[in-house]
Amino acid sequence: MIGDFVVHATAGAARHATFSTAHGEVATPCFMPVGTLADVKLLEPRDLHELNARIVLANTYHLWLRPGRETLVAAGGLHRFMAWDGPILTDSGGYQVFSLESRREIDDDGVTFRSHLDGSKHRFTPENVVAFQEDLGVDVAMAFDECVKLPSSRKDVERAVTRTTAWAQRCAAAWRRGPTMLFGIVQGGLDEDLRAQSSAELVALDLPGYAIGGLSVGESRAEMDRVARFTAALLPANKPRYLMGVGTVRDLVAGIDRGIDLFDCVYPTRSGRHGRALTRSGIEYNVRNAGCVRDFGPLDPACDCRVCATYTKAYIAHLFRSGELLAQRLISYHNVAALTSLVRDARAAIDGGRWKAFRDALLASASP
Ligand code: GUN
Ligand code: ZN
Repeated sequence: MIGDFVVHATAGAARHATFSTAHGEVATPCFMPVGTLADVKLLEPRDLHELNARIVLANTYHLWLRPGRETLVAAGGLHRFMAWDGPILTDSGGYQVFSLESRREIDDDGVTFRSHLDGSKHRFTPENVVAFQEDLGVDVAMAFDECVKLPSSRKDVERAVTRTTAWAQRCAAAWRRGPTMLFGIVQGGLDEDLRAQSSAELVALDLPGYAIGGLSVGESRAEMDRVARFTAALLPANKPRYLMGVGTVRDLVAGIDRGIDLFDCVYPTRSGRHGRALTRSGIEYNVRNAGCVRDFGPLDPACDCRVCATYTKAYIAHLFRSGELLAQRLISYHNVAALTSLVRDARAAIDGGRWKAFRDALLASASP
């Protein structure tokens, strides 16, 4: 049934589970590639299937502005529009409108903002953001939240928590409770009492899942770690937990260890477009490095992806130096494989009682 979350095995807080959506089951821990504009940059749906990327993330803010609700509804929903039949999660636009800074005005009812594309004026409210995501037919809609950048004054973080709760309540009331699930987003900056307040107020809404937001916004890694660990423990064990916008190898391993189930990040695809390849041990290198020119091995000898089975590092390095777009595509493909195979192996390690050894090996080898 939609929303079922079945835990198969645990290792401390880490767990291997299955999460059911209207477009199929998702094995967790899971890495979700980012498809902001209704595409995971340079990758097609068939690539994503091949990569075992079960669920992709798209964005309310961007799709609202272009192509817009009417076109997406006329297309038969976002799945049909982008020719992806797997699960889709959309972010609510909360994060994007707040980062518009000078182009937006927040009040207790919602946010008025100007498009970064053409300056046109728009308004988001908790109700219209949930309706938009449901009209698109996505599997998971995120509640409309207020995310503050860090550092912020305690007063600003408090106001964001109060508003995020009030907006989540309005999202929950507007939610049709059909095939689209609604997840709440915990805010609260770096203060444990505010995180606890935000978590308690959202958990009271009994939503199908919860995200930890407001991290990776200017704080140190140690602070992010502390707050994510603290907050994850406050969220229900029988529902998926999602750490938003986080996805380096080190962050994934640390997140899984604290009981996070879902992650998304532009990291593998953005790195790929910049010529940076990830290895399964969490090391990142640039194919422009001199050492790549005559390296006829794969991007990562430990990788079992199609790109590594087919092409040499020397070839991809040559393409990249020559400005050939194929290089960006091949590295992006490989990088997503690095993260989807990492979470696959993490699930197997949790099942096999090897999680701690798996975790420690990666934390020792991964780039900082
Ligand atoms: N993506 C990363 N962090 C956040 C957050 O705090 N809120 C939302 N809506 N999206 C995010
Ligand atoms: Zn590979």
